Amino acid sequence: MQTSANSLEYQWMPFTANRHFKVEPRLFSEAQGMYLKNHRGETLIDGCSGLYCVSAGHGRREIADAVHQQLLTLDYAPPFQFGHDKAFELARRIGELTPDDLNYVFFTNSGSESVDTAMKIALAYHRARGQPQRTRFVSRERAYHGVNFGGLSLAGMVRNREQFGAVLPGISHIRHTVLPENKFVRGEADKGAELADDLQRHVDLYGADTIAACIVEPIAGSFGILVPPKGYLKRLREICDRHGILLIFDEVICGFGRTGKPFAAQSFGVTPDMITMAKALTNGVIPMGAVAMREQIYQTVVDAAAPKSIELFHGYTYSGIPAACAAGLATLDIYRREGLFERAAELSPYFLDAVWSLRDIPIITDIRGYGLLAAIDIAPADKPGMRGYEVLCELFNTGMLARVGGDTLIFAPAFIAERKHIDEMIDKVRRVLQRHAGQRPGVRLAG
Ligand SMILES: Cc1ncc(COP(=O)(O)O)c(C=O)c1O
Repeated sequence: MQTSANSLEYQWMPFTANRHFKVEPRLFSEAQGMYLKNHRGETLIDGCSGLYCVSAGHGRREIADAVHQQLLTLDYAPPFQFGHDKAFELARRIGELTPDDLNYVFFTNSGSESVDTAMKIALAYHRARGQPQRTRFVSRERAYHGVNFGGLSLAGMVRNREQFGAVLPGISHIRHTVLPENKFVRGEADKGAELADDLQRHVDLYGADTIAACIVEPIAGSFGILVPPKGYLKRLREICDRHGILLIFDEVICGFGRTGKPFAAQSFGVTPDMITMAKALTNGVIPMGAVAMREQIYQTVVDAAAPKSIELFHGYTYSGIPAACAAGLATLDIYRREGLFERAAELSPYFLDAVWSLRDIPIITDIRGYGLLAAIDIAPADKPGMRGYEVLCELFNTGMLARVGGDTLIFAPAFIAERKHIDEMIDKVRRVLQRHAGQRPGVRLAG
């Protein structure tokens, strides 16, 4: 193994099987475009844009140069009571991409912080408009909203919570949108919009005037790319409007072109009151997140405070720091200059066709996808999640970086991908899955 680390022992790795990793490590040493190199010098195709973030591809010199220049010019400026140009400019540029009047932007350092920030803004907003009793949040089963206590409490997967016991009170979950009759449906399914009526049931149960916000990922990402049924998000919007409940879209994965439009809100034609984002905002290279909100939310909270006083008691040492803003601006420039959101939309049909071509492998139990996001459910082996993990390791050894959650394999290629890159990914996945299915690798069955 070629690694410059003297020991792999002392880093406690996040969301990782640490003990197995330290016996059989998977390290990266270089990355460029659609490819990474591992510690053995082997080349791997990136099937998941790193972790849904490197949407413009690896090694973008424009971003590196912008960050380098920024660090030499203004390395740090305190964000509390002070500012710098680039944070304001980046907020304006994000506002150009968000729908309607979601033009006010609060900076964070991650998706998790964006979610917790959005929750706090929702609470502050209702308090400012004289409804402090609105403290409940409605989330969804199979949701992932990060790992801080707010997002963790919203999460719809017990696995992420069970080690920690205490979570926030006052959070309830509506059903997820996976229906057995929608298996292998590509894009939005015709059936299932009525699942949004669960929100009305929670309103009836808890009282509309106790609920601050309903938060959903437009496409639930980490737990398996759950594409909303046709009309589902619109119905959520209507119920929220009827009862004065804020609708928050967590677009940490969907945001910045993943669905072929700047935000999934535009792809599905539904405007929320707040959007949380992170990841592809800086092409993944500098930690940064943001919450975009309607003008009315910002105005209500700031107008409720006395003149010359702080309006929102919230913020991070690294909220909108210069290097992150420089990375964000350079990233948005690349998206615009290279038309990468449009390119994602153009590549989507080819990509989805390619993923659906795997359907004949018998251990595949469902496929879902939209834009440049797709997931394959694999029949579990003895213990749930074990086959998924084996597939992840085998793909690494076959030359592909993939994302696996449980027994679900997720694809999220960068927007610079060409058809040949999609073909390469699908070929590698086919070979690995066919081996698991006991088939001769490379043989494609009809149907
Ligand atoms: C929808 C969603 N929200 C929040 C997060 C948390 O983001 P982070 O890991 O940057 O804290 C993620 C991460 O994948 C996510 O997919």
